[in-house]
Amino acid sequence: MSEIKVNLGEHSYVITIGAGVLSRVGDIVASSCKHTAAAIVTNPTVARHYAAKVTASINAAGIRSETIIVPAGERFKTLRTIAKIYDALVDMKMDRCGVIVALGGGVIGDMSGFAAATYMRGIDFVQVPTTLLAQVDASVGGKTGVDLPQGKNLVGAFHQPRAVVMDTLTLDTLPSRELRCGLAEVVKHGIIYDREFLEFLDDNASGLLAGQHDLLERAVYRSVEIKRDVVEIDERESGLRAILNYGHTVGHAIEALSGYGKFRHGEALSVGMVTEALIAEDIGVAQSQTASKIANVLAKMRLPVNLDDVFNAQDIVRAIEVDKKTLGSSIRMALPVALGECKVVPDIDRQTIASAVERHKSLRYQG
Ligand SMILES: NC(=O)c1ccc[n+]([C@@H]2O[C@H](COP(=O)([O-])OP(=O)(O)OC[C@H]3O[C@@H](n4cnc5c(N)ncnc54)[C@H](O)[C@@H]3O)[C@@H](O)[C@H]2O)c1
Ligand SMILES: [Zn+2]
Repeated sequence: MSEIKVNLGEHSYVITIGAGVLSRVGDIVASSCKHTAAAIVTNPTVARHYAAKVTASINAAGIRSETIIVPAGERFKTLRTIAKIYDALVDMKMDRCGVIVALGGGVIGDMSGFAAATYMRGIDFVQVPTTLLAQVDASVGGKTGVDLPQGKNLVGAFHQPRAVVMDTLTLDTLPSRELRCGLAEVVKHGIIYDREFLEFLDDNASGLLAGQHDLLERAVYRSVEIKRDVVEIDERESGLRAILNYGHTVGHAIEALSGYGKFRHGEALSVGMVTEALIAEDIGVAQSQTASKIANVLAKMRLPVNLDDVFNAQDIVRAIEVDKKTLGSSIRMALPVALGECKVVPDIDRQTIASAVERHKSLRYQG
């Protein structure tokens, strides 16, 4: 078991990482503040596996708890579900001394955090992320929110958790596709920040994919440390935090053009990281071969790295403009300088993006 402290002044908190730490949730909730009641927000899948353990741990710490089960899936990450969570909180007579425990993936974490940020003008919450993506990304940084019919994450709030508890054993029940999607974000952290870590991931791809706990724990730990470092410096996303968006500009365009659903976020991100590395090569920010080295690591994680012919370069550029609301103005991207180092390039022209997309389409990396 290991701990990472996130230093954000009065909003500081500790992240506990390890195999079996789910049984410590109660103690962690009790020690983070004087809580009288806990609402465990989860979905049916996660509840089946882990709710009993978390409930027992919270009750053993002397805190009364109730479980609020919401439907699984991104399409339920809505204000309607938030209203149902509020109803359940009122029913259980939750007051400002209560705490919401988010038990699940990023969808549960984002919604529980938003409910906690707004119920009675803000109550405490503790994140217990159970997907790799939620552990290495969604549960760190304090962003919470829901989707609107018009777009993803359009409503939200910054609300830091009181504590985060990451049990790597929960990854045992995670479908392998979800595990690989989390690994895309892990590899991203290596590419933007830490070459040695990227080499560790490259050397241990098969063990990570097989769910080997010691390797997963190390991958989660270092990934969280990197996100923590970036978030601490830039809590509200003014500068450095933009490097975490590497791969996401093109990745979001691919997700949007394929109509959300064909590609999981991590898969679109994987392809997007390769296209953006090609852009970095084309404008002389990165040396040639950077993109192929990145593609090799991602392919080892059994993530997609090639850009299908169905994608039209102009469509991708337009989707980026819509996503970034940059019609006519400059497009900013975080690009790799070398493996383990990245920088934000403020003004990338559309023709550069389009020609890198065409180049990507013509390349076939070995999976
Ligand atoms: N707040 C942030 O900074 C941030 C960052 C990245 C992503 N996100 C958000 O996170 C969401 C994606 O999160 P996700 O990838 O975790 O998806 P998810 O929450 O939808 O979980 C994926 C699937 O795995 C299931 N699941 C969860 N844990 C499991 C377990 N241990 N065993 C078996 N099944 C399990 C869930 O029921 C779900 O069906 C998106 O809504 C995205 O916007 C937020
Ligand atoms: Zn992402």
